Amino acid sequence: MMTMTKLKERSLLGLKDLSRGEIESILDRAAYWAAREEKLIPVLNSRFVANMFFENSTRTRFSFEMAEKRLGAQVLNFAAAASSVEKGESIYDTVKTLESMGIDAGVIRLKPVGVLQELAGKISVPLINAGDGNNEHPTQGLLDLFTMKRRFGTLQGLTVSIIGDISHSRVARSDLWALQKFGAEVKFCAPPNMQAPELDAPYVSMDEALKSDVVMMLRVQLERHETGMLKSAEEYRAQYGLTEERAAKLSRHTLIMHPAPVNRNVEIDDSVVECEQSAIFTQMSNGVPVRMAVMERALL
Ligand code: CP
Repeated sequence: MMTMTKLKERSLLGLKDLSRGEIESILDRAAYWAAREEKLIPVLNSRFVANMFFENSTRTRFSFEMAEKRLGAQVLNFAAAASSVEKGESIYDTVKTLESMGIDAGVIRLKPVGVLQELAGKISVPLINAGDGNNEHPTQGLLDLFTMKRRFGTLQGLTVSIIGDISHSRVARSDLWALQKFGAEVKFCAPPNMQAPELDAPYVSMDEALKSDVVMMLRVQLERHETGMLKSAEEYRAQYGLTEERAAKLSRHTLIMHPAPVNRNVEIDDSVVECEQSAIFTQMSNGVPVRMAVMERALL
């Protein structure tokens, strides 16, 4: 049985409470995995991992699976829609069931905020947060920092604008809390009804936001909106979208990011998604070595 301290060290529930040193050590290890050319490095080949997604995902789910399989782990994939959750089984009973079968770690995505923290107090294997409501998405935050660090060499002094649906964004929160630990300057830009005043970052105009070293666009999260939050996609694009015209005016060194999935032609124009300054697909590539580092930390 793992001690509570060890369990806490191996779990990854968020970046807010992780030290700068711990984040640095994950990013350094991710750089190590990114440099390894072999597809399969089976250091986790006797370990069993359950990926438990109670909310839909493409990037995070497959990126974790890719990372786990590259490290040789045995992977169990759980999708709520094809499970006894549909019969009313609770999240706790589901995770407890997989724990009782002998998994060594669990990767979990959940809709409600706070449940993961509760689970972590009751489950005796490391848990990795793959996105909990609008609270945190720590591995997305780590891969975002990894991408910025690779491009600029340092995070210290970097200006980062996060633009869009801040209130519903777990990415904005994880990025903000992690970037501030490294001395980056984070600014937000959002329509008044998508702002999160509880977060400690200034709101600036779109013109001001586009002057930063990194311009991170956020998806308009329609599935989390109350009715009427978004009046029209065209109006949103005109006021807060990274249109082709706005992208053409960015400084040549500015990096365009987006955690994806992307609403093309709403928060970012179709032609900008894969333009030369865009790191959107690089972010997805970087997700694999970052999650390899996270799984190694959880299991070795
Ligand atoms: N960026 C991200 O979390 O994407 P998915 O929802 O597809 O996992």
